[in-house]
Amino acid sequence: MSTVVLIGAQWGDEGKGKVTDFLARQADMVVRYQGGNNAGHTVVVGDQTYKLHLIPSGILYGEKQCLIGNGVVIDPAVLLQELASLKSQGVSTANLRISPRAHVIFPYHRSIDMAEETCKGNSKIGTTSRGIGPAYTDKAARVGLRMVDLLDRDELAEKLRHTVEIKNKMLAGVYGSSERIDYQQVLSRYTEYAERLEKYVADVSVLVNRAIDQGQKVLFEGAQGTLLDLDHGTYPYVTSSHPVAAAACTGAGLGPTKINTVVGVAKAYITRVGEGPFPTELHDKMGEQIRERGREFGTTTGRPRRCGWYDAVIARYAARINGLEYLAVTKLDVLTGLDTIRVCVGYRYKDQIIDQFPVSLKMMAQCQPVYKEFPGWQEDISTVTDFNQLPQNARDYIRHLEDLSGVPAAIVGVGPGRAQTLVLRELF
Ligand code: GDP
Ligand code: IMO
Ligand code: MG
Repeated sequence: MSTVVLIGAQWGDEGKGKVTDFLARQADMVVRYQGGNNAGHTVVVGDQTYKLHLIPSGILYGEKQCLIGNGVVIDPAVLLQELASLKSQGVSTANLRISPRAHVIFPYHRSIDMAEETCKGNSKIGTTSRGIGPAYTDKAARVGLRMVDLLDRDELAEKLRHTVEIKNKMLAGVYGSSERIDYQQVLSRYTEYAERLEKYVADVSVLVNRAIDQGQKVLFEGAQGTLLDLDHGTYPYVTSSHPVAAAACTGAGLGPTKINTVVGVAKAYITRVGEGPFPTELHDKMGEQIRERGREFGTTTGRPRRCGWYDAVIARYAARINGLEYLAVTKLDVLTGLDTIRVCVGYRYKDQIIDQFPVSLKMMAQCQPVYKEFPGWQEDISTVTDFNQLPQNARDYIRHLEDLSGVPAAIVGVGPGRAQTLVLRELF
């Protein structure tokens, strides 16, 4: 197998960064294909912790090709900061390449993101305020600026002048905001960003297809998660891109016939940041306990993550939407010490049991999870290196997750470190 697409099978923060870093040791190339710096992917190597927002989690090896595809929205200031921070940690970024087709985030995108949330009041989405939604909105409205425009001084000056004029009108007239974007200031700042980023810009689609044709191993690193997908997530409480596996093709410029394997990353429980429905959410001490033990605080915004039991209805849904072949189950260690662990196997809606994820948020609000209970384990599993060394109840729990989700596990995580990863099946 030479291409693997790795996606989030829940609401994001499943541990995609850690699993990508782990699998990247066998890959030649790692590609981000959607989202932007709303993503926060944590990789722990030895005593160092890296928090990546835009750069693929394969960068820490130094020699892997790391690509940012056309489907990603790029905040150049954040990208430059990330490059600087990696360099200061001794990581080479020479192998990074960025698609000229990727859209660029400007300060007015962040301003509009925040103004839009303020206007929504109680029905706000709880975005990361990084300008992601407005940048994708401009892309779809065909008024966005791409990396290729950033590199062309005249194009940038002209398009930006027009866009800033309109965005200032929007900020004042639509949102009643007193904030104004200073065209000259943004132009000079972004001209400087362009000069510093130019050397990284290359045709990502050409590079990916060439690598695949040469038999190289390519890993696609999804951001966010299936339930945050613009089409398949809990709309409107979603992000503005497509975190599902199919987006690897459109977001990097390759055809579906080039994808061999799709892996879904899922926590052994489930979390969500921001607003929106969450059937298995725990509002009690158990939820707090999981949040504390799992250190469930956002990598990007630091917000506390909402925590709940593993939801097999969601897992089966993610399996269908993404065509999952394997699961990577992370954070099994966080459940250590519990007497009983619950898994949602269906939803009770009025007097029926439904096993498909509902479309309507109203219906979802009336769904009660139906739980199955499994016995926990007390032994510390964070130093276990082989699946067969796990306590019987921990192994059984994984087997139940596989059965209830309808997907076999290839990887089980027992801690944030590289070595705390159990391999059940090789993916490359
Ligand atoms: P991502 O956005 O999907 O890459 O996930 P995040 O990095 O935002 O959040 C996952 C968190 O869990 C990070 O702090 C990881 O270091 C950590 N993590 C990943 N896998 C494991 C695991 O198996 N056990 C534990 N205890 N932590 C893990
Ligand atoms: P990673 O890649 C978890 C959530 C936000 C909000 C919604 C929309 O680290 O898994 P946006 O700023 O994208 O318009 O916010 O999506 N969200 C994430 N939640 N992990 C992420 O990324 C997320 N990226 C966005 O909290 O609810
Ligand atoms: Mg994250």
